Amino acid sequence: MSEQLSPIDTAKFAAAKRASTFVENGMKVGLGTGSTAEWLVKCLGERIQNEGLLITAVATSNRTAELAESVGIKVSSLNDVKWLDLTIDGADEYDSELNLIKGGGGALLQEKIVATASDRMIVIADSTKKVTHLGAFPLPIEVLGFGMKTTHALVEELLEGLDVMGTRAAPRMAGDGLFVTDEGNHILDLHLERIGNPRQLALILNQVPGVVENGLFIDICDVIVTGYGDGRVETHDINSGESDTTQFLPDPASNIFANLGV
Ligand code: A5P
Repeated sequence: MSEQLSPIDTAKFAAAKRASTFVENGMKVGLGTGSTAEWLVKCLGERIQNEGLLITAVATSNRTAELAESVGIKVSSLNDVKWLDLTIDGADEYDSELNLIKGGGGALLQEKIVATASDRMIVIADSTKKVTHLGAFPLPIEVLGFGMKTTHALVEELLEGLDVMGTRAAPRMAGDGLFVTDEGNHILDLHLERIGNPRQLALILNQVPGVVENGLFIDICDVIVTGYGDGRVETHDINSGESDTTQFLPDPASNIFANLGV
């Protein structure tokens, strides 16, 4: 059986495949959430099956944990593992300083805790995620259900005085109800259009009572792995300044990951 990937899936697959080569035997690895991170989980499942790779994994969401276990990755809790060698995760936007917007999938809180508990964070993304200024993608913030309407109003008022172009906050919905995160909280999506000072915004948002965490990842990402529709992958390490380009194309004659049953 063969599988033809769309250019966007080829880009995500290629970035994930390249990032999976950073994982070494015995490592403690954080697994991100989202469609790009799903490719990564499958790539690691394949390495476990083909090479006997041994890792300890911590998932950033219930759905990643389920997928990881389904492809043979043993998932532990962060409380048991405490500190990780590496986290590999997707992003909704990244800029040239590797500041990120994350949380499009609603998992930003666990993602930030896991990435912060890691020696290194590698972000995998298709090339559409690269931006000059963060903010076109609505910035998610996780908020408590208690007093959420007050928190909403306070955040919009706060945004009026900050270096952003838009100030509208919208509760994220799931069908007729509010979206509920894995931690039982809700999400406000901030339509900012352009964020002039991401570092300042990240600090100020977290000072609002009721805001649990925001989706700005500042000084957390170390390496960006960007995939393109033709299977090309660029890797850039912001600490060493090193970059390389390679190519990963799924074999069109084989059904990738068929042996994983996913
Ligand atoms: C999940 O909450 C997010 O942070 C994702 O990592 C981000 O939305 C990227 O997702 P995709 O890989 O699906 O674009």
